[in-house]
Amino acid sequence: MRAVVLAAGKGTRMKSARPKVFHELCGRPMLWWVLRALREARIEEIIVVAAPEMREGMEAFSDTQVVIQQEQLGTGHATRVALEALPPRSRGKVLVTNADMPLVTADIFLAAIEALGNDAMSLVTVSCGPALPSFGRVVRKGARVERIVEVRDATPDELNIEEKNAGIYVADETKLRTALARLKNDNAQHEYYLTDIVELLSKADERINATPHAPMLDVLGVNDRIALAHARTWMNIRLCEQHMRDGVTIIDPVTTYLEPELEIGCDTVIYPNTSIGRLSTIGEGCTIGPNTRLSNARIGNRTEIRESVILDSRLGDDVHVGPFAHVRGESVLENEVRIGNFVELKNARLAKGAKAAHLSYIGDAEIGEEANIGAGTITCNFDGKRKHRTKIGKRALIGSNSSLVAPLEIGDDALTGAGSVVTKNVGDGERVAGNPARPLPKKSP
Ligand code: UD1
Ligand code: CA
Repeated sequence: MRAVVLAAGKGTRMKSARPKVFHELCGRPMLWWVLRALREARIEEIIVVAAPEMREGMEAFSDTQVVIQQEQLGTGHATRVALEALPPRSRGKVLVTNADMPLVTADIFLAAIEALGNDAMSLVTVSCGPALPSFGRVVRKGARVERIVEVRDATPDELNIEEKNAGIYVADETKLRTALARLKNDNAQHEYYLTDIVELLSKADERINATPHAPMLDVLGVNDRIALAHARTWMNIRLCEQHMRDGVTIIDPVTTYLEPELEIGCDTVIYPNTSIGRLSTIGEGCTIGPNTRLSNARIGNRTEIRESVILDSRLGDDVHVGPFAHVRGESVLENEVRIGNFVELKNARLAKGAKAAHLSYIGDAEIGEEANIGAGTITCNFDGKRKHRTKIGKRALIGSNSSLVAPLEIGDDALTGAGSVVTKNVGDGERVAGNPARPLPKKSP
């Protein structure tokens, strides 16, 4: 089975510089979702018909074949362009689908394939009352499908037909090729409609099977940004429901924004207004949110993240973050680390049990086990030209409002006094204070 995916349309109604099928919902382009459903249906040979300006964007879809439709002359023309680029196969079958239906599922494709049997063509239809008003109407004579009429060519009576064309077709390849060669564009839009194939085949006494599909949302065609938003809402509910089935508590799926390809462990609880994306993984028994954003984050077990942003970073087990922390730039928080209110971490590594509880910027730094970073501590990592690193030893105590001027090393069990401006390395067990910081007298035994 080969599949032709029609993706070259102008998408005029999106009013966008970006090609329509590259518009995203839940973090992936519309086209990505359709291709995923085709793969789930085990269709391996996939040909995407794209417009010339999509050439670059198609590089992200490296495992599909791309055929360029130079001019967008209609869905029938697009299908012909695709088939002309492929060697003909006698007795082959081909599935043709619109690419602007991101909610489509593998089951719908499989049902259409099954419905073809040995006939000329099968197509998926939805009966949805007045909904989906822009869809082509399925005209039957008795039970027999006779033709599809597009809205702009329909009579008022035809417009009342409730059975509509979903935009998914399976056909005998030879018969499809022959019929495509005979398509005309004598219609309201002067386009070569793929849907006219139905009438051509039916007039040639070929059998056409319509497979009615019940949930109309599954075949929602996204032509404008309103439909895109509806599709996103529904896709997000699907993603949330899948994780809930797998043991994740989602307090409010409506305000929990997920992407595909996430891993979330059981008994993790996600509070409202939280978005999780870019291949993040979360362990078991975590508390995430409310008001939290995770992107490319790897989180261990029993970790709590409240009202915070975690980007491109890794957190271990039993870590506590927030409220109002910003962790980014490949930071690593080992087990039992605590990051508190208004703390920003960038490319920082905090070893087991280290703490930075309040109001800090820690960038390009390595913090030892059980070290405690006092409120208001800043790593001054930028000298105006270059970034420098700060290293802080195990159990070190950094006093409130310390400015640590990098490059800098502070030893194990060292201490800096409140308000210190530390410009020189501090040895193990050494205590410094002042601006610039100077060693304090040794504690009398
Ligand atoms: C199409 C169907 C309509 C159906 C509806 C379902 C036709 C003529 N009409 O209408 O019966 O109810 O889908 O959603 O097919 N495309 C190309 N090249 C082109 C034109 C379009 O690749 O020259 C692609 C588009 O990118 C899109 C798909 O074909 O993915 C459908 O085109 P679109 O213009 O959205 O058709 P509709 O008017 O929605
Ligand atoms: Ca459409």
